[in-house]
Amino acid sequence: MKRTNYAGNTNEQQVGQEVVLKGWVAKRRNLGGLIFIDLWDREGIVQLVFNEKENPEAFKIANAVRNQYVLEVQGKVQLRAEKEINPDMKTGKVEVAVDNVKVLAKSETTPFDIVDNVDASEDLRMKYRYLDLRRPEMMRNLKLRSKVASIVHNYYDNEGFMDVETPDLTRSTPEGARDYIVPSRVYPGHFYALPQSPQLFKQLLMAAGVDKYYQLARCFRDEDLRGDRQPEFTQIDTEMSFATPEDIQTVTEGLIKRVMKEIVGVDVKTPFPRMEWQEAMDKYGSDKPDTRFGMLIHDLSDIVKDSSFKVFANTVADGNYVRAIRVPGGADKYSRKDISKYEDYIKRFGAKGLAWVKVTADGYNGPVAKFLNDQAAQINAEMDAKDGDLILIVAGSFHVVADSLGYLRRAIAEELDMIKPNQWNYLWVVNWPMFEYDEGFGKWIAAHHPFTMLNEEDLHYLEDGEDPHKAHAQSYDIILNGNEIGGGSIRIHDPKVQEKVLKALGYTKERAEARFGFLLKALTMGMPPEGGLAFGLDRWVMLLAQADNIRDVIPFPKNSKAVEPLTAAPGKVSQQQLDDLKIEFDEKVDYKQDQDPAEQ
Ligand code: AMO
Ligand code: AMP
Repeated sequence: MKRTNYAGNTNEQQVGQEVVLKGWVAKRRNLGGLIFIDLWDREGIVQLVFNEKENPEAFKIANAVRNQYVLEVQGKVQLRAEKEINPDMKTGKVEVAVDNVKVLAKSETTPFDIVDNVDASEDLRMKYRYLDLRRPEMMRNLKLRSKVASIVHNYYDNEGFMDVETPDLTRSTPEGARDYIVPSRVYPGHFYALPQSPQLFKQLLMAAGVDKYYQLARCFRDEDLRGDRQPEFTQIDTEMSFATPEDIQTVTEGLIKRVMKEIVGVDVKTPFPRMEWQEAMDKYGSDKPDTRFGMLIHDLSDIVKDSSFKVFANTVADGNYVRAIRVPGGADKYSRKDISKYEDYIKRFGAKGLAWVKVTADGYNGPVAKFLNDQAAQINAEMDAKDGDLILIVAGSFHVVADSLGYLRRAIAEELDMIKPNQWNYLWVVNWPMFEYDEGFGKWIAAHHPFTMLNEEDLHYLEDGEDPHKAHAQSYDIILNGNEIGGGSIRIHDPKVQEKVLKALGYTKERAEARFGFLLKALTMGMPPEGGLAFGLDRWVMLLAQADNIRDVIPFPKNSKAVEPLTAAPGKVSQQQLDDLKIEFDEKVDYKQDQDPAEQ
């Protein structure tokens, strides 16, 4: 029999009509001569009624079905009795009185209940992802993602962008993470790298004259995983020739505006605010400022430079910073013990300590209060402090202070419920430094990537004898509620500038040639000035869906240990495959073919 409609779309207009529905048994209740079954499909559920007296045949079958059996039913749509109406259910006013029922597939007892707020470990859910995706909230996320992707295609197509594919088996691309590599069978000892982004290819597409490019591109990065990161993810990747940052930002805002309207039903105002990177770091302690609440960072360096508290005075004397946030009404909310918990928390960002004072009518309270009484009036004025407030102060280098207070600010805002729901604060962070010092690597790296164009007025910093690290770049990140959802820049199209930037990053001519020779060559043969941007689709959809974790909006994600529990990837391969690839393991590597990381 042909299905007439989705179970979840059954409605009042169909009352009196015959329908044919196909779906899964979400719930079954037997009330003696009556059986009620909630039939589920991707659009929702509808209640089926089986009446023993009227239809003993169908009743008998219904009596034997279990949860998650797949049924085909034929029956009549009827209005529910007044007291049976379920206002929380899309189909809550109707039900289907079943005449015929056929079991299309049986189901074993599932390892967890197929319901929202499921009580099962995430790994179990991921191992049986097809069951997990049957849960309404997961199906809703999948649909939302599909809808966003469809708007993206439609939007960029309308704006004159061409959808062009770029390879997955390629050379290393420079986004700063580790590569996933794929051995070549034809050339033993040689490897493809999976792209960390299509960055270089999209620049080459501009060299080709494509002019406006977009792609929903798969990207692969071997990096430490977090709640908003996956080893394999999707970018809404764009590039435009002859474009200014403003042009790229405007097109991007147009997409966001449309998605917000059609997906969330919210009108966002464009253009979005632009915030200088320096301001974001100074006031929010982050390059992805969350502007949904206040509690901004204030600089006290000048006020405390002569303080009798040596930690502060010495910090300022060394050219570093003393900065603070004020927790309104925080004096009563936080005990000494609570604050020392926060002190431990910020030590992970390199902070040496967390100094604090409680503001009272009789001056400051707290262990360092006595050192600060002389400056109290000035500090209070700077921080707009009132009786009952708590002031938290960190002294240290620019980045340590920013990170410590930036994270502290967010943690406290969450703890004190300072973030009002349903805010959609989009903003651009602009005018980034071109380079940043990576403590881990112990060297300068590109803050965005090495193909980012400097501000024209900063080009002189690349000349001999100048400090290139002072240069700022024509790059921009798009932030939503304190999350980086995308980033982009104008690119270098002058080969000489590109060479100088690679040199400032420590590439010798030979290494630059070996890694990026093909791009450097393209720059010498009619490269248009151009720029672009890439959004993290997964991250954006996570925020739009108000999901807690990026994994909840990815159909088959990896877990936090980079394992995909459903297929148990990564897995071992046969000796034959290894032989074909001429790969031999060092004796030190314990290569047991029957052991999978998912089972360890
Ligand atoms: P970038 O490296 O900033 O820029 O990446 C762009 C956006 O991709 C998302 N993203 C991720 N999402 C999930 N998991 C990850 N591991 C992950 N890594 C990044 C983020 C980020 O903002 N080629 C440049 C873009 C350009 O200059 O046009 C690039 O890839 O939301
Ligand atoms: P100490 O002199 O190390 O006993 O520290 C006295 C107080 O100053 C303690 O409350 C510390 O947490 C705080 N403190 C120490 N170093 C710093 C720092 N770099 N920034 C802020 N507070 C600090």
